[in-house]
Amino acid sequence: MTSVATLPARDPAARRPVPRRYLMCRPDHFDVTYAINPWMDTADPVNRTRALAQWEALRVAYEGRGHRVDVIEPVAGLPDMVFAANGGLAIGERALSARFANPERAQEGPAYHGWMAAQCFTSVARARETNEGEGDFAIAPDRILAGTGFRSARGAHQEVAEYFGLPVVSLDLVDPRFYHLDTALMVLDDTIAYYPAAFSGTSARLLASLYPDAIIATEADANVLGLNGVCDGYHVFLSDRAVDLAAQLRARGYEPVGIDLSELLKSGGSVKCCTMEWHSVRTAVASETD
Ligand code: ARG
Repeated sequence: MTSVATLPARDPAARRPVPRRYLMCRPDHFDVTYAINPWMDTADPVNRTRALAQWEALRVAYEGRGHRVDVIEPVAGLPDMVFAANGGLAIGERALSARFANPERAQEGPAYHGWMAAQCFTSVARARETNEGEGDFAIAPDRILAGTGFRSARGAHQEVAEYFGLPVVSLDLVDPRFYHLDTALMVLDDTIAYYPAAFSGTSARLLASLYPDAIIATEADANVLGLNGVCDGYHVFLSDRAVDLAAQLRARGYEPVGIDLSELLKSGGSVKCCTMEWHSVRTAVASETD
């Protein structure tokens, strides 16, 4: 299943934003009432008003740069539903809704499934295996990178490869602070950015061979979830605390857009966690058609 072809590097001066379609969920019910990752401390109160303002600023940042943002109705009693990335995967005409690892989030699967079923996909399925959506599946132009170790099952990688008909590369996560792939790795335009220490030695070596031009994040940037960002081909929306990463991105021709999501960080989430992308097929199979 491992495809080793790499994408040709793009001229940094030629980077352009491509309009995207994102799904977000207002943090109307956001809270930290349970702890299912090391970032969550139920004794540390959440300021929901501030969370709402920060979330709104992210939405405005996307829309202001030409992206379409759909919003799913938040459900009371599901405080983590704001993390739309976990709701499933949507590529072209096909969507797969999530199956969560923890019972606290289980009901989010049907909620996101309902949204998908109401869109114009030709096929919408529920994951059979434990699958936390874009939290553990990064859709790169030439392949899907998939994480396992804390949440999504390895069997979900095979299921996703079959359902979407795309190559999937499995990666082992080993540090509980980086419990989802999207906390340790971000897809850029023609390469990725990642934090090698979040991966097993074998997986880190595999990433190094697949992406020799990758941006390697510092520990400080990884620790503020700076890698939990969203790239539109030119802009990179990411935590405003990830200052080294922003500088590295700028040096490669990207335009970092710093976002303050400090309230969401209390639950272990940042920009990407709040964003599910409805990927165009063109993006997913670029290397096969170019
Ligand atoms: N509190 C949530 C959890 O632990 C945060 C999810 C963040 N989402 C993500 N895509 N990394 O499940």
